[in-house]
Amino acid sequence: MCGIVGYIGKQSVSPILIKGLHQLEYRGYDSAGVALSGEAAEGIRVYKAKGKVANLEAKVETLSPEAQTAFTTGIGHTRWATHGEPSETNAHPHLSMNGELALVHNGIIENYQLLKEQLVGYGYTFKSQTDTEVLVQLIDYFYQKNGKQLTKAVNQALNKVIGAYAIVVMERENPNHLVAARKASPLVIGIGEQNAEFFIGSDATPLVEYTHKVIYLEDEQIADIRPSEAVEIINLDESSANVNIKDVDIDISALSKGGFPHFMLKEIFEQPHCIENSMRGRVIRREDGLYEIKLSALAHFKAKLIRARHVIIVACGTSWHAGLIGKQLIEEMCRIRVEVEYASEFRYRNPVIEKDDVVIAISQSGETADTLAAIQLAKEQGALVFGIVNGVGSSIARAADTGIYIHVGPEIGGASTKAFTGQITVLTMLSLALANALGTISEEQFQEICRELVEIPAKMEVVLKQNDTVERLSNRFTYARNFLYLGRGYNYPVALEGALKLKEISYIHAEGYPAAEMKHGPIALVDKEMPIVCLATRDQLYHKVISNMQEVQSRNGRILAIVTEGDEQVKRMAQEVVEVPATLNCLTPLLSVLPMQLLAYHVAVKKGLNVDMPRNLAKSVTVE
Ligand code: G6P
Repeated sequence: MCGIVGYIGKQSVSPILIKGLHQLEYRGYDSAGVALSGEAAEGIRVYKAKGKVANLEAKVETLSPEAQTAFTTGIGHTRWATHGEPSETNAHPHLSMNGELALVHNGIIENYQLLKEQLVGYGYTFKSQTDTEVLVQLIDYFYQKNGKQLTKAVNQALNKVIGAYAIVVMERENPNHLVAARKASPLVIGIGEQNAEFFIGSDATPLVEYTHKVIYLEDEQIADIRPSEAVEIINLDESSANVNIKDVDIDISALSKGGFPHFMLKEIFEQPHCIENSMRGRVIRREDGLYEIKLSALAHFKAKLIRARHVIIVACGTSWHAGLIGKQLIEEMCRIRVEVEYASEFRYRNPVIEKDDVVIAISQSGETADTLAAIQLAKEQGALVFGIVNGVGSSIARAADTGIYIHVGPEIGGASTKAFTGQITVLTMLSLALANALGTISEEQFQEICRELVEIPAKMEVVLKQNDTVERLSNRFTYARNFLYLGRGYNYPVALEGALKLKEISYIHAEGYPAAEMKHGPIALVDKEMPIVCLATRDQLYHKVISNMQEVQSRNGRILAIVTEGDEQVKRMAQEVVEVPATLNCLTPLLSVLPMQLLAYHVAVKKGLNVDMPRNLAKSVTVE
């Protein structure tokens, strides 16, 4: 969703804000803005631009060198529109009517209409259609009433608000003061040397090059930030809160494209390495050559996990597809019933959750609002919440009772790639370890799957070597307006994921289907124009998939097949073929999804689209 940055200290603030906004641009990118002030400057200066952060940067660069150094306090925002179209007027920061306060906001104020009517009654007028402008005016209302105590005014205003927010507010009268607050939308404060300066971000990405000491604000907390003083935190009920300073460790090189034209391609190619990282210290080869799996989450919560007779996986988007694979893994290996739910549906459905159930929340960002709400619901009903998350220190990681980080590093590309394979890797390790503890898997099977799992990174490299092939064949498909993706068993969620990837970045309508279901509807769409991606690797459903492909073939559909190395039968039926090395059924998605990712990537590049920042999408969806 939107990205927030802030800085207060002695340095020139605009380069810090612009750089931070670039780093957060993956979160939302329809407009951006900054508000600047400083002791040596006059008042608050606001710059805004529609579109990318680069447009804002061009405007801010027109500042004279003197002005640049005079501005030492500032807030910035990159927006993903929720209320009001993307425009300069609706872009953040928003000023109060008298220009005394400036505010940036992530989230949604649900009762903003009601608050707006009240404020109009008090004489306030509004320039934008946003809920955010209502919030800054509301804060101003209390600010004017209470003798200009900003932190108190923020507190009073937030007590009237229903909704989700991460905000940073600055005041004209005191450029040495920022106030930040959050509820259901993340906010991190980075602490400079001896509290001389502070950095604020909606995640830790823009802070890590300056400091590793951070405070993750908790829900309903308000931080009072002044240079050279320790941060003070109060709760919405005005009680004071403990300040927990944490160390954050993000590899800065992961934030650059490392020679690749796009983050997405870099992240696709990182996967062999990421999967190794994900398994490091967890899949262990003993001296006797046998494998064991060590997961601290399992060690600590073994009794509860073993007792579970029902697992519910909650997630959104790509993470939900990983959940569908997780269901097959857990059911097959552990013989425990698993349901996979869209978090957004689960949270409002009054679902049956028993005390002994385990709810697994899967999320790349760890900030998805619906998944977070699903966790809250599960906890209220007494279930154990197990997080499978990439975002270290994220809201979901902290809300879960226990869990496993996927450890694939920051994912910047708008379309999720390495997080997906990381999630499947973790789900495989979890299933294996749990099955071992439950005694539902034989030692031979366990060892065989472990042996194959550690081979996956090398086999991924083999698939990635066919990048040129996928690039070449993608030329033949850029014309298409519809795609169908078919797969069965473990490849069915891969078909869904392939279709999602294509939709997200190439804007071609695509549907994923269980191959056998095709004849119950989608077959009506098949003609010679329609590319059909068939996942036809050699598994127990291979021959069934071939029959499904014959149905397509006899209707002149154009088949692109993903096959196991050496397959001749499917080659004769398909126009295009991409081979993947043989592996066990349950590990197939880790290989078969790679051509899906590459295909979506190359089609989007050929169409001249912005691969890393697809239109209308946000990387981290912190509103419901
Ligand atoms: C957004 C992203 C998707 C992601 C989904 C769930 O829609 O664009 O790539 O799969 O959110 O996000 P999460 O961070 O919870 O995995």
